[in-house]
Amino acid sequence: MRTPFVVGNWKLNKTIAESLALVTELKNQLGAVKGVAVGVAPVFTSLHSVAKRLEGSAIATCGQNCHFETTGAWTGEVSAPLLADAGATWVIVGHSERRQFFGDTSEIVGKKARAVLAAGLGAIVCVGELLAERDAGRTLAVVDDQLAGGLAGIDAAAAASKIVIAYEPVWAIGTGRTATPAQAQEVHAHIRKWLADRFTPTTADAIRIQYGGSVKPSNAEALMSEKDIDGALVGGASLEAADFIAIVKAARPS
Ligand code: 13P
Repeated sequence: MRTPFVVGNWKLNKTIAESLALVTELKNQLGAVKGVAVGVAPVFTSLHSVAKRLEGSAIATCGQNCHFETTGAWTGEVSAPLLADAGATWVIVGHSERRQFFGDTSEIVGKKARAVLAAGLGAIVCVGELLAERDAGRTLAVVDDQLAGGLAGIDAAAAASKIVIAYEPVWAIGTGRTATPAQAQEVHAHIRKWLADRFTPTTADAIRIQYGGSVKPSNAEALMSEKDIDGALVGGASLEAADFIAIVKAARPS
């Protein structure tokens, strides 16, 4: 049994005041929801305030990215131990926007994932193909490469509860064009098999695989009802309390 995990990735949105208003509402309204883990990933400037506001609730505070080194001359960067110090318990690594616009290769993603786990935090490792790669029939090969790099050097058997894979087809992010539940399930099942081959079937069964890409209240339940879809990484729809709450409730085991 895997507890679904729904995380709101706020990307580059919200002031501290706006962030606090949103998490206060989430804290109030999601307190009684059982059977689903919930997280929010604010911008770094809001992260500490959000984590403080969420104290005493089960909602996790997540970083959107981190550097792979812990300290030193890395102007503009934030490390995993400093995110932990600010109150984060999870960090997203390898988001497609990092890969596309900031040069995060799968090798770098692996270094970041190892840094996150070494800091005692959970790592949400994102994978997903571009539209051209899907059209060329390369989806599974691309995902395999990203998994190999992103999980390099990681003992997943020891850390299964602290590793989440997020499958986010790039063509579905922010486009309103969601993968169908069947399209998503096909890739999720493939990821689970990859994890079973690389680690063990028991480890693969324990690792949660989120879907991300235009998840909305209207499609969340159908997606998360698929056997290998264990929650969602939500962008745009996580910026509105009502939408995000509806998505979280759709993930509850029926
Ligand atoms: P949207 O939900 O806005 O498509 O974004 C998905 C995403 O990138 C979450 O990390």
